[in-house]
Amino acid sequence: MLSKNMEAALNEQIKVEADSSQVYLSMASWAEIKGLEGIAQFMYKHSDEERSHMLKLVKYVNERGGHAKISTLKAPKTEFGTFQKMFEELYEHEIMVSNSINELVHVSLGEKDYATHNFLQWYVAEQIEEEALARSILDKIKLIGNDKGGLYLFDRDIQQINVESAASPNNGV
Ligand code: FEO
Repeated sequence: MLSKNMEAALNEQIKVEADSSQVYLSMASWAEIKGLEGIAQFMYKHSDEERSHMLKLVKYVNERGGHAKISTLKAPKTEFGTFQKMFEELYEHEIMVSNSINELVHVSLGEKDYATHNFLQWYVAEQIEEEALARSILDKIKLIGNDKGGLYLFDRDIQQINVESAASPNNGV
């Protein structure tokens, strides 16, 4: 059985993951109308992954005798300026998510809830991957700068990242 404190903290994370899904969906839509299909597909897929992170938490909270609460979401921004700025935001967003997961782990230890602590290790590992992926994409896009040809090639290459991460055994739930 989850303590009230642990349940509230997990419910906060449900919101964080749902908000993340919205943010990446908005980035996907922006990339799509800018004609960058590879980046759009990457973001659509990332948005789906965040929803799966949220669902995993919903099921866990209910399974442990809590009540997963579904709440309203913040409207994400709809314009991102440049692709570099957009990927900087993605990277910063993932760092915020990692901090939020770390805080949850901290709460689980305080509550001596070792089952939740164990459950959260999946998220800890996932955040290491997500931060590393976001950082490597950002490094590439910084190299490209304003070069349109470079962006065209990057848009093609990022589809390869999609295929590779889809094949990864750690992908999704
Ligand atoms: Fe669910 Fe990208 O963190």
